[in-house]
Amino acid sequence: MTIGKNFISTQDWSKNELDELLQSASDIKKSPYNNSLKNKNLVMLFFNPSLRTRVSFEVAMNQLGGSAVSLNSGQDSWKLEHVEGAVMDHSTTEHIKDAARVLSRYADAIAIRCFPSMNSWEEDRKDLVMGSFAKYATVPVINMESSMHHPCQALADIMTVKEHAGNLKGKKLVLAWSNHPRQLPTAVPNSIALIASRFGMDTVIAHPKDYELDSDVMHAVEENCRANGSTFKVVNKLDDGLKGADFVYAKSWGSAKYYGRPDSEKSVRAKLRGWKITRQNMLLTKKARFMHCLPIRRNVEADDEVIDSSDSLVYEQAENRLHVQKALLNLLIGGGS
Ligand code: CP
Repeated sequence: MTIGKNFISTQDWSKNELDELLQSASDIKKSPYNNSLKNKNLVMLFFNPSLRTRVSFEVAMNQLGGSAVSLNSGQDSWKLEHVEGAVMDHSTTEHIKDAARVLSRYADAIAIRCFPSMNSWEEDRKDLVMGSFAKYATVPVINMESSMHHPCQALADIMTVKEHAGNLKGKKLVLAWSNHPRQLPTAVPNSIALIASRFGMDTVIAHPKDYELDSDVMHAVEENCRANGSTFKVVNKLDDGLKGADFVYAKSWGSAKYYGRPDSEKSVRAKLRGWKITRQNMLLTKKARFMHCLPIRRNVEADDEVIDSSDSLVYEQAENRLHVQKALLNLLIGGGS
């Protein structure tokens, strides 16, 4: 395992490294407390809200004997600029170039949450804020969800799937677009599609027309499946996706066609209320387990009786965030577990 690298996307790490990380997470789950991160400090910078990510990283550092400092960018720290060569005579106060270099003098790793602006897809898909931290920090940078990726969620998700399915060969995971009152980013759907395909699952994405995911991500998913001898399919009917599924991962995301124009998308979404996971449509699956990264809009994305059923893994996914992040922190800044 390479120590001291960034964790921006699971695609950047080899399969062996990811396997090692997951094995370490399983070991830590059985024995959660030690001093492997004694005197280590993590700085977490949030451009956006969080419940699970923030608390699980703070608790992970504490339970391994280290410390975490959380900052909300633009609220209890300065508003940051990411544009290279910017003439900073407008609202931003500090450049990421300076912030990343300074934080690297204090902390052993820097973790960043930076959602997309949801104004311009062409800009958001470049993941510039995360890229700027990765460029200028001199300590490992951890992605706590950027425009394009949520790799810690993906690790927790695949750990959860492996705990329930064992061998993933021939197991079918459907990423099912679900309705939601707001346009949401694509980091989670990108990440679950990438990790499921990377681990050899038959991967299906079910979404309405005009809700295609980024073409580069889709090519990577296709390539992951090809390399693993698994299958990859995109369907535009929810029921077609659900048929024979072993895992149903519900998630909403915004349409690239209406990107930055939420008002124009509203009337489209109003016709997509059927894109919801219900007890009835779960009967199409192979007694599938239900997954979601949370937070979830109950009875919009999925019905209460699905989320609260014994087939739901949502709290196991959330718990596994803690274990995989401990394993990740150990590997990045603890010198191995
Ligand atoms: N799933 C997830 O990242 O949750 P939070 O947004 O609450 O951190």
